[in-house]
Amino acid sequence: MRLDGFAPRTTLLDWLRLEARSTGTKEGCAEGDCGACAVVVVRERGGRLSYEPVNSCITLIGQLDGAELITVEDLAEDGVLHPVQQAMAKEHGSQCGFCTPGIVMSLFAHYQACGGATNRATINDVLAGNLCRCTGYRPIVDAALQVCNGAAADRFTRSAAARMQALRMLDDKADVFVGDANSFFAAPASEDSLAELYAQHPDATIVAGATDVGLWITKKLTPLEKIIHVGRVAELSRSEETGDGFALGATVSLNRAALLLGSIDPDVSEVLRRFGSVQVRASGTVGGSIANGSPIGDLAPMLIALGADVELRHGRQTRRLKLEDFFIDYGKQDRKRGEFVRRLHVPKLPAGAHFRAYKITKRFDEDISALLAAFRFDLDGARIAAARVAFGGMAGIPKRAKAVEEKLRGLSLADTRGWRAAADAVREDFTPLTDLRASAAYRSGVAGNLVIKALAELAGVDAAATRVAERRSFAHAAE
Ligand SMILES: Cc1cc2nc3c(=O)[nH]c(=O)nc-3n(C[C@H](O)[C@H](O)[C@H](O)COP(=O)(O)OP(=O)(O)OC[C@H]3O[C@@H](n4cnc5c(N)ncnc54)[C@H](O)[C@@H]3O)c2cc1C
Ligand code: FES
Ligand code: FES
Repeated sequence: MRLDGFAPRTTLLDWLRLEARSTGTKEGCAEGDCGACAVVVVRERGGRLSYEPVNSCITLIGQLDGAELITVEDLAEDGVLHPVQQAMAKEHGSQCGFCTPGIVMSLFAHYQACGGATNRATINDVLAGNLCRCTGYRPIVDAALQVCNGAAADRFTRSAAARMQALRMLDDKADVFVGDANSFFAAPASEDSLAELYAQHPDATIVAGATDVGLWITKKLTPLEKIIHVGRVAELSRSEETGDGFALGATVSLNRAALLLGSIDPDVSEVLRRFGSVQVRASGTVGGSIANGSPIGDLAPMLIALGADVELRHGRQTRRLKLEDFFIDYGKQDRKRGEFVRRLHVPKLPAGAHFRAYKITKRFDEDISALLAAFRFDLDGARIAAARVAFGGMAGIPKRAKAVEEKLRGLSLADTRGWRAAADAVREDFTPLTDLRASAAYRSGVAGNLVIKALAELAGVDAAATRVAERRSFAHAAE
């Protein structure tokens, strides 16, 4: 299908329901939380078809350029329900049915992606972004276990080669520009085109995954007129492993980043597993997560503790700075008008270095952090030679805890009085706020306790004793 004209801020959900009259896809929260609007977007990645569930309420129609869109209406074949739909019906996975199209689409994406083998924990992750208020998840998970354990066999697998060919033909590597100089949706195909366009229109809004920007549209009703989507810029979507770390292009999705960064330490993996939902991580990007300057984002504190750099570009000029220096103050980053985030450079842990990260939320899955603590310790035997400690949720920006770091330097792991002094130093570093997620007293108390928890784990207390549900307790034995 070809669309030549649309308002730049049109969401995929509005287009589906109001223009295409494809009303099987539902609107619940309109902010990416409930998954009622989930659809599947198919793209070629690494020579294979990648089936990605996304929340259509916070996806802009223009983001779909060059991709295949599958909605719940597309699943049945000649009036026969898709295997995922059949399993849901057989296991009584639906009652009022409002959540069902979204759940079916999330499971359809998993059915295609899981290679015929899945388990309950994986399905729970897959469904973390799909809210069902009346059926209960047991029959839904049973349906998923039944249908996803076994090779995918449907009309999408049969037509995969032809659809791949069609996607390749759509990939014309040309810049997209819909609208005029005052109001447009643009999707440059190269970094040079992006740099030029953004320098010409520094007042434009960059959109990567739109998991933040989408909410400005649906919740704040922000009248965005000029949108530059960076998702088609080939150079920004690349990631590579360098000798001592990873270079991640700004538009690498959080799901893709998790595969690489998770290899640094199981805690990175665990925090990213709890970052939003599969849908949010499929759309949301590492660049967006840094550029938004969020004081409660999960990625920035972990990357600061690891010692990452951010690379920026303005016109032809590029520059690289320590990530902690990018965040200046609440809502203020070291980024000029017309400058964009190009790449993140994340070092691996050298020998003798250890990492810990803890995400504190009211609800375990799909919840924004009240605070996030991240630690890198460089050990010299049983003594801490150096430490990098960063917190989210404790200040107006993601920030290093320099006083805590100072107390940790040279500390013997056996010195439990020293642990307490390091924990108390949190109060020198931060004066947190009270908001709907946590009180200031709670934040300070928990932050100090997390310092102690990290030290206890480092000193050899098994994670099975320090953690209730996170999965490091299983990975820990291998350390
Ligand atoms: C339901 C839900 C759950 C969420 N859960 C979490 C969570 O658990 N943890 C968490 O940290 N966050 C969470 N978020 C927030 C959000 O997903 C992340 O901040 C995400 O990483 C933003 O990335 P994006 O690509 O979608 O950014 P976008 O929405 O596209 O952009 C965000 C901001 O960054 C700017 N921007 C994007 N890319 C660039 C670039 N390359 N250069 C310059 N500027 C750029 C945009 O102009 C905008 O100001 C959640 C959001 C939703 C909707
Ligand atoms: S309507 Fe709730 S996630 Fe889109
Ligand atoms: S079946 Fe009613 S909300 Fe899920």
